[in-house]
Amino acid sequence: MSCVVFISGTGSNLDAMCKAGLAPDIALVVSNNPQALGLEVAKSYNIPTAVIPHRQFASRQQFEAQISALLDNIDFKYIVLAGFMRILSADFVNHYAQRIINIHPSILPAFVGEHAQQQAYQAHVKVTGLTVHFVTADLDAGPIIAQAVVDVLAQDDCDTLKQRILRLEHLVYPFIIQKLLASKVTIHSSGYVEVAHEPQDAQLLGADITRVYY
Ligand code: GRF
Repeated sequence: MSCVVFISGTGSNLDAMCKAGLAPDIALVVSNNPQALGLEVAKSYNIPTAVIPHRQFASRQQFEAQISALLDNIDFKYIVLAGFMRILSADFVNHYAQRIINIHPSILPAFVGEHAQQQAYQAHVKVTGLTVHFVTADLDAGPIIAQAVVDVLAQDDCDTLKQRILRLEHLVYPFIIQKLLASKVTIHSSGYVEVAHEPQDAQLLGADITRVYY
């Protein structure tokens, strides 16, 4: 089972996936942004890339039709959003129901939308973190697969907080993608997502295991 990864920017999560050994499981990296640094990451791991600049299309529908046409020729199970900055339409999301996953840098449902880390910092919360979830037509919603917590410290500024969340993203996202590709994730009819716990998890997550809920 393999996946395709959608990016728009730096691609540090894509890099983390590759460093975790997932490069052979990535059939394609799609970017809407021709300048995305993540495209270089993909190339450095010999992963095929496709650039589909959204501005060249008159509508979201046409942009997505182009993506779908590309995906129709590829054998893959999951679409992994890794810093993809376009909202996907309900039609697109429903077409790939329960096959699109996203990582969001807050404990959802708190702080949806852009600049989630800054929103959390400005709200003076004591705990924030990240959420990996299935994508539905609602923004930053959808069945939650995993969450991981980061303490907000007195000496933090927005940037240090963002960096600590990102470091944990790089651990948790590849971990969960491996679980998905190995068919270790079940969505119950209630909407609860159950991830099988396995003996090797402790080694993969290391000391951060206490921060990760799955
Ligand atoms: C991450 O903070 C992720 O949570 C959010 O977008 C950012 C992507 O960063 N969805 P990168 O492109 O993977 O470095």
